[in-house]
Amino acid sequence: MTSRKFLITGTDTGVGKSTVGCALGFAFRARGLRVGVMKPAETGCEERGGILEPSDARALMLACGSTLPIDLVCPYRYRSRLAPPAAAERDNLPPPDIERITRCFREISDASDVALVEGVGGIAVPIKWGYDYADLAAAMDLTVIVVVGNRLGCLNVAVLTLGYAQKRGLRIAGWLLNDTEPAVTPAAITNAASLTKMTAAPCLGTMRYKEPLAKSVIDRLLA
Ligand SMILES: Nc1ncnc2c1ncn2[C@@H]1O[C@H](COP(=O)(O)OP(=O)(O)OP(=O)(O)O)[C@@H](O)[C@H]1O
Ligand SMILES: [Mg+2]
Repeated sequence: MTSRKFLITGTDTGVGKSTVGCALGFAFRARGLRVGVMKPAETGCEERGGILEPSDARALMLACGSTLPIDLVCPYRYRSRLAPPAAAERDNLPPPDIERITRCFREISDASDVALVEGVGGIAVPIKWGYDYADLAAAMDLTVIVVVGNRLGCLNVAVLTLGYAQKRGLRIAGWLLNDTEPAVTPAAITNAASLTKMTAAPCLGTMRYKEPLAKSVIDRLLA
């Protein structure tokens, strides 16, 4: 059973949580580690052949070499691209059940050296009403990785996200600045240095647009 269990959350939707999760999983695997992966709830799934296909969960499984059943890795899948409880209401499906998620996670992490859990949106997004991803991180004993989308406006939401995680008493591995597009704007060029001055949380590194994850990020997470 692994004690290296991480929640990959981010400053927003579309900031690179899955991209970073896949890169981390692939790099952990390359070091000979068994990587468990989970996307407890995925919304915005497309229907294919009568089933709702979770593309994030599938990508993470592929990168991490997971061959577990999709119902274990991603037990709650919704068509509507909304926060999970709102998607459940709109799709007329049951909302996520936390007991079931923690049971699935235990099974996954028991068979892993390192486990990665991707959230939906950011850390304060509810997975069910009145229960957000910070609650889930606490319940599943996850260390938080905050993926910061390197763009204008990310400083505010990065500091708020890290502050919220800290206030909720969570372990924070650090923040990782991710270039979802080439870093050419003044904001993208200066954000790393600015954020370092604004938070005491560790900087795990920067993931450049279409470039591999630096080895030092993995070293830090395994230290
Ligand atoms: N470092 C990167 N280099 C190139 N493209 C990237 C990088 N990071 C993210 N992207 C692209 O940006 C888009 C959003 O990334 P991704 O799906 O990883 O974000 P996310 O935070 O997981 O989104 P969601 O909230 O939907 O789960 C994708 O098209 C992805 O390929
Ligand atoms: Mg994603």
